Amino acid sequence: TKALTVLGIESSCDDTAAAVLRGSDILASVVYGQTALHADFGGVVPEIAARAHAEKLDHCIEEAMGKAGVTLQDIDGIAVTAGPGLIGGVLSGVMCAKGLAAATGLPLIGVNHLAGHALTPRLTDQVTYPYLMLLVSGGHCQFLIVSDYDSYQRIGGTIDDAPGEAFDKTARILGLPQPGGPSVENAAKRGDPKRFNLPRPLLNQPGCDMSFSGLKTAILRARDAIIAEKEGLTVQDQADLCAGFQAAACDVLTEKTRRALDIYLGLNPAVPTFAIAGGVAANTAIRAALMQLCSETDTRWVAPPLALCTDNAAMIAYAGLERLQHGETDDLTLSARPRWPL
Ligand code: KG4
Ligand code: ZN
Repeated sequence: TKALTVLGIESSCDDTAAAVLRGSDILASVVYGQTALHADFGGVVPEIAARAHAEKLDHCIEEAMGKAGVTLQDIDGIAVTAGPGLIGGVLSGVMCAKGLAAATGLPLIGVNHLAGHALTPRLTDQVTYPYLMLLVSGGHCQFLIVSDYDSYQRIGGTIDDAPGEAFDKTARILGLPQPGGPSVENAAKRGDPKRFNLPRPLLNQPGCDMSFSGLKTAILRARDAIIAEKEGLTVQDQADLCAGFQAAACDVLTEKTRRALDIYLGLNPAVPTFAIAGGVAANTAIRAALMQLCSETDTRWVAPPLALCTDNAAMIAYAGLERLQHGETDDLTLSARPRWPL
């Protein structure tokens, strides 16, 4: 049978993205980030994001189709993120996809953004169900057992901030540039992780839930204690606080992953597999700790290329493709959902 060709559209947060997928070949994947537009505001401003998506989407789709060398005649379906996310942005994408579907008569497939992330290891590494997934980014933090394209079991996650958000806030508190993940990781290399006694929230509680907001507050207190004694932070103070923060975040993620793996391995999967996705997957220390855990438990470690771990439309096209292959499509009443648990 001929491989299906799917156009994917993503606009649920601060990236406008379009991609063309044929089977498991990514023919093109275009991402326009909006970081610069939101830089002055200390976070994503929903109104600005929605307007920028609406302005950029057509161009982004044309560029992806041009790069892929396809026209609408070559497309078998249009997959679009229908939630969860910032409603204005999701609406921009859904409207755009509906317009295309109405004009061409092509099948429309609404995709859950989290399913896009969760299915990425199948696109990149052909993993088999069931696998354990840790989604860890600026907006997400959860453990999922993925048993089929439409079957996800959430076995834990953050009860407050996502780790990426905590990295970003830590950077802000310490006067380091955004995004905070890379700057904290970089500063941590020259720091002493033991100088400050930082909490590991929920570490000793049963289950796989996590918490990161107390850790961020502890960084704030430690910083204020230093400033109360002398003029400001030295580069060494910054490095030690970053190293302490990263070690604590890493300990929490590692210990909770150990427990999630326990639950997952109890299902006796044929090919035990642990996959990671989200921007925090870029962190070398966290990656190393999780890889080590996989090798201790004879579990296959899968980390898709970073460009596919962060928000993109190839993952949306792929999740759409899996639904399309099962004959599942939506009609033009498809609605945008700000909240949409898997
Ligand atoms: O997946 P992503 O691009 O966007 C969403 O949040 O959906 O993830 C971005 C997050 C940011 O919070 C960023 O600080 C974090 O991933 N991040 C990192 C690193 N690189 C990016 N966190 C820790 N260490 C890194 N090296
Ligand atoms: Zn995402």
